Amino acid sequence: MCAPGRPIALLLLYVISSASSSPVPTLTPAPPLPLQVLPPGTPPPSTPLSGSAAGCPLTVSPSTLVVRFGDPVTANCSVSQMGFSLLGWKVSLPTPEPTMDRFLVWRVDRITDWGIQPVCYALADTGGKCDITLPLTVYKPPQNVSISFVNLTGPMLEGRQYTLQCTVEHVAPVKDLRVTFYRGQTALGQPQSINSTVETPVTQIFTLDISPGREEDGAEYWCEAKLELGLDGPELPSVVTSQKVTTYFLFSPVNGYELRKGLYCER
Ligand SMILES: *[C@@H]1O[C@H](CO)[C@@H](O)[C@H](O)[C@H]1NC(C)=O
Ligand SMILES: *[C@@H]1O[C@H](CO)[C@@H](O)[C@H](O)[C@H]1NC(C)=O
Ligand SMILES: *[C@@H]1O[C@H](CO)[C@@H](O)[C@H](O)[C@H]1NC(C)=O
Ligand SMILES: *[C@@H]1O[C@H](CO)[C@@H](O)[C@H](O)[C@H]1NC(C)=O
Repeated sequence: MCAPGRPIALLLLYVISSASSSPVPTLTPAPPLPLQVLPPGTPPPSTPLSGSAAGCPLTVSPSTLVVRFGDPVTANCSVSQMGFSLLGWKVSLPTPEPTMDRFLVWRVDRITDWGIQPVCYALADTGGKCDITLPLTVYKPPQNVSISFVNLTGPMLEGRQYTLQCTVEHVAPVKDLRVTFYRGQTALGQPQSINSTVETPVTQIFTLDISPGREEDGAEYWCEAKLELGLDGPELPSVVTSQKVTTYFLFSPVNGYELRKGLYCER
């Protein structure tokens, strides 16, 4: 079936994350710790306890989490030293009661928030407090990926430049999105990724300029959207491909080619 392409409005949703405003427990300057409880290599005791870099004896397992929107989350925070009386989680979601045990598990059945920053904290017997943030990425594979030629309403002309447009709908986080344009099985190019801190799903349009030659008459173009979530991401990366658009050229009948009335086709 042949149909003219419709330009799709750029829908860039700049959504300010509301969940990231969850306050980190207030840090009161810790009094110097007795020297014997400090593991080797820790900074001088005058450093306030804040995060592992300053000698905070907290460990979160796993240390980084990449979770699909709607999936469950579990993280175990444990304290490796004596001298800490209370262990707690601070998250903008249901949290377990602080405990006097050596570990505390935070569990959510379905993660349906964006930009969450879980923090595990411990209170020292001496009155200090230290905490560690669990880096958490909530992702959502694209809902739909589609391709079209921008402003193409008729057959193509050789030697002209045309713009391919790949629309990736409702994907998060957009900074991890990689789009590749293809002609048949040939990768044509990968537009630059988006430098954005937006954590909620957005719709993003990528473009690629092409100047097809007549030998490409009937060539099929498509695009692919992939979330590259790193080593902590899912084993199988989320890849969504578009439909295909086919080029049709307007050739001069003098050259022995038939004029094709078709526009370009979507399958
Ligand atoms: C949490 O971690 C601690 C320390 O590694 C371990 O002893 C405990 O069994 C863990 N708890 C769970 C529920 O995984
Ligand atoms: C994807 O987007 C294209 C173009 O807007 C539309 O024709 C198609 O129906 C959409 N598919 C889904 C599954 O939403
Ligand atoms: C497409 O056509 C519209 C309306 O004529 C124009 O405003 C827009 O700039 C064109 N876009 C491109 C990429 O040529
Ligand atoms: C991304 O954007 C931030 C803020 O605008 C900027 O500081 C940073 O240099 C940019 N990074 C890249 C790789 O462009």
